[in-house]
Amino acid sequence: MLCGLPLISSPNLLVGLEDADDAGVYKLTDDLAIIQTLDFFTPIVDDPYTFGQIAAANALSDVYAMGGKPITAMNIVCFPVETMDISVLREILKGGLDKLHEAEVVLLGGHSVDDSELKYGLSVTGVIHPQKIMTKGGAQAGDILVLTKPLGTGLISTAQKGELADEEAVNASVKYMTTLNKEASEAMMSVGVNACTDITGFGLLGHACEMAENSKVGMEIDFSSIPLLPQVEELAKMGLVPAGTYRNKEFRSDMVEFAPTCAEWVSDVLFDPQTSGGLLISVSPEKVDELLAKCGREAVVIGRVTSEPKAGNNAQCKT
Ligand code: CO
Ligand code: CO
Ligand code: CO
Repeated sequence: MLCGLPLISSPNLLVGLEDADDAGVYKLTDDLAIIQTLDFFTPIVDDPYTFGQIAAANALSDVYAMGGKPITAMNIVCFPVETMDISVLREILKGGLDKLHEAEVVLLGGHSVDDSELKYGLSVTGVIHPQKIMTKGGAQAGDILVLTKPLGTGLISTAQKGELADEEAVNASVKYMTTLNKEASEAMMSVGVNACTDITGFGLLGHACEMAENSKVGMEIDFSSIPLLPQVEELAKMGLVPAGTYRNKEFRSDMVEFAPTCAEWVSDVLFDPQTSGGLLISVSPEKVDELLAKCGREAVVIGRVTSEPKAGNNAQCKT
């Protein structure tokens, strides 16, 4: 959207808009940089407190993806004052605050406007050493790709709107969406990895493509190794696919090649827009076991990084 507009450059700008990374990074001193990010959206679950938790975990995630430590946050709220009880907003803010507390992040303030559609999110600031920033651009040929949360939150949210989602699936989806990427981020920073991004609206393959593009590498992803949330296969086979999936596919169609054995529903899962998804980490083969051990048992190897991207870049799917 800002393409062609006169952006402001600075020698202290370490990661900016042109880098298309998870968050912006600005150097304050030789050993301190700030990471800044903002995310807000309309409710994806009915319970306001849960929505607040998810929105906060999601907003914090971009700082974790950059390898940083979030320190402060500000609320951003759009609320229909005339039509909705203010207690709903209180519950949302309580959910957000509880996640900030868990992340040891201080809420500094925020801003709210009267709007016909409810929206909530946060602007988060983190800190990092300028030489330790984890971008999407460092993946090396031969690296192993690790994913830290299962896929399918978009499919389950869509099914839930049509009252077709199982309780088990909804509970699992909420559990992961409210789980901070803190532990995985700290694990990767202690191990030392080459690249990272978090899986959100563009789906696993959309974000993998960004990493492949920025790192100038290819990737091979093995679908059979990817953990899925309960009921996701069934919902995808039923075609209960969020609209965002088609946009994600369309956008990256020339970068992705699916193995002939890949069914259509598989590609729908791989492009399913995630909310507060896991981290996708590119790590050298020597360090992968240590990373998996430190990330906890949810993290799994889903593929590898290749040197020769076919047709510019190439993410393959093998089943
Ligand atoms: Co991100
Ligand atoms: Co974001
Ligand atoms: Co204000």
